[in-house]
Amino acid sequence: MNVSSLDQQRAPETRISSTGATVSLRGVTKSFGAQKVLHGIDLDIPAGQFVAIVGRSGCGKSTLLRLMAGLDEPSSGQIEIDGLSSVWRDRVRLMFQDPRLLPWQRVAANVEVGVSHASSGDDRRRLAMEALNQVGLSGREQEWPAILSGGQKQRVALARALVSHPRILAFDEPLGALDALTRIEMQALIEQVWEDKGFTAIVVTHDVVEAVALADRILLLDAGRVEMDVTVDLPRPRRRGDPAAAGIEGRILDCLLGRQCRDVTRWPMRACP
Ligand SMILES: Nc1ncnc2c1ncn2[C@@H]1O[C@H](COP(=O)(O)OP(=O)(O)OP(=O)(O)O)[C@@H](O)[C@H]1O
Ligand SMILES: [Mg+2]
Repeated sequence: MNVSSLDQQRAPETRISSTGATVSLRGVTKSFGAQKVLHGIDLDIPAGQFVAIVGRSGCGKSTLLRLMAGLDEPSSGQIEIDGLSSVWRDRVRLMFQDPRLLPWQRVAANVEVGVSHASSGDDRRRLAMEALNQVGLSGREQEWPAILSGGQKQRVALARALVSHPRILAFDEPLGALDALTRIEMQALIEQVWEDKGFTAIVVTHDVVEAVALADRILLLDAGRVEMDVTVDLPRPRRRGDPAAAGIEGRILDCLLGRQCRDVTRWPMRACP
C-alpha cells in the first residue's frame, strides 16, 4: 500500500446521524404456521449505521428485513424505530433484486412514485430530478424503463427510494442480478449516497465480499439466530483484496461453512451449531 492511496482513504469514525433512525429489536420471533423462522432476536442498530446481514439461504434474512421494514408483524417481541413501536413505514424504504419499475411510466414518473402525495406536481418533478441526478441518470428522465440496462434500472429504483428522504434504506440482495463490474459500481453509489444522506442502511446479501466492502457491521444469521456480530472497522473506500478485509471475509466464511464462529463483540471462539 503506498502513501498516496492511504491519503485517499478516510479513517473510520463514529457516525452520529441526524437523518438515520435507530432500530431496536427485543425478543423478536417469527413463525409461519408450525415453522419458527426467527428465534428471539435482540438487536440495537444506531442511527446511520451500515449493517449487512448474511447467512445461508432460508435462514430468515428476508423475514428479518421485512419485519424491520414494517412489511410484516413479529409473532412475539418488540421492534422500535426511533423509539416508536408503530407507524414507522414512512421512515423506511426497501429495494429488491427486481427493480420493480412501472413499464408504462417513464423514468421520471417512476421516481415520482416515491414522493409523498402531499407534494405539488412541481415539487414532485423537482425532487425526482434531484434524485436522478444523485444516481447519475440526469438526462434520462423521459426514457422508458424497457430501454435501460439492469444497472440503470437499479439506479432508478435507488432514486425512487431516495426521493422520499428515508431514514432507513433496507436492501434485499439489490445487486444479485448484476454483472461483477456493474455490481461494484452500484456498491460505490450506495456507499456514496449513504455517506451523503446519513440514513441507516440495512443490506441483505449472499456476497460476503460485498458485506465487508460496504458495512460497518455484519450480522451472520443462522437458523433464525444471530450467530456472529462483527464490527468492520476499516477505512473507506475499501479496496478489494485488502488483507484486513480478506481476514474478516475468511472468518465469516468459516462460520458460514460451519467450521467455527467468533463473535468479536460478545463471545469467545466457539463451534457453530
Ligand atoms: N410468507 C411466508 N409463508 C410461509 N413461510 C415463509 C414465508 N416467508 C418466509 N417463509 C419461510 O421462512 C424461511 C426463511 O425465509 P427467508 O425468505 O427469510 O429466508 P432467506 O434467508 O431470505 O433466504 P434466501 O437467502 O434464499 O433469500 C423459509 O423456510 C421460508 O420458506
Ligand atoms: Mg431472502
